[in-house]
Amino acid sequence: FLDTAVIDEIRIVHSWGVLDGVTTNPTLFAKAGGGSYPEVLEEICGITSGPVSAEVIADDLEGILREGRTFAKIAPNIVIKVPMTETGLTAISTFAEEGIPTNCTLIFSTAQGMLAAKAGATYLSPFVGRLDDIAQEGLDMVRELSAVLEIHGMEAEIIVASTRSPRHVIDGAIAGAAIATVPFKVVQQMIK
Ligand code: E4P
Repeated sequence: FLDTAVIDEIRIVHSWGVLDGVTTNPTLFAKAGGGSYPEVLEEICGITSGPVSAEVIADDLEGILREGRTFAKIAPNIVIKVPMTETGLTAISTFAEEGIPTNCTLIFSTAQGMLAAKAGATYLSPFVGRLDDIAQEGLDMVRELSAVLEIHGMEAEIIVASTRSPRHVIDGAIAGAAIATVPFKVVQQMIK
């Protein structure tokens, strides 16, 4: 997946035939400029039919559900990105009951990932780069989480997130993650 809200980057990577989906967040959206968040999401969904993650900014249950349900109406491939919190777990399980796919974001431990999978998250996003930033081995979490999902036949898919280099993408794939979400610059580094 491409980790961006910049339309031109998405078009370019799509043209290379290697784009399976997109993840966005409020920070990436703010950096990208352009129209409103829903407008940008709609444009992205017009480029790729793969999963497109839209992150909620509310932190109360009603707000998360309201934002998520609104995003989900934009296109059939929208996935609601919900932070890993107690309220986030409730929102994820509610969305799961409603058939709305979710991406549990800001996962910093295997235990958090297990809970999100149990709550019914479609995707789990362990943040490897940010753990590396504080001198912890981010990939260890991906290895453990991948093993737990496999041993117990859980359906959630891992998206290696907060990737900073081609090494993260390679090691994440070897650790068993089917997906990595990658900034445009890192995809270019992979080409080189
Ligand atoms: C994941 O979906 C996030 O958008 C992303 O990978 C955030 O990572 P970063 O803020 O550490 O770059």
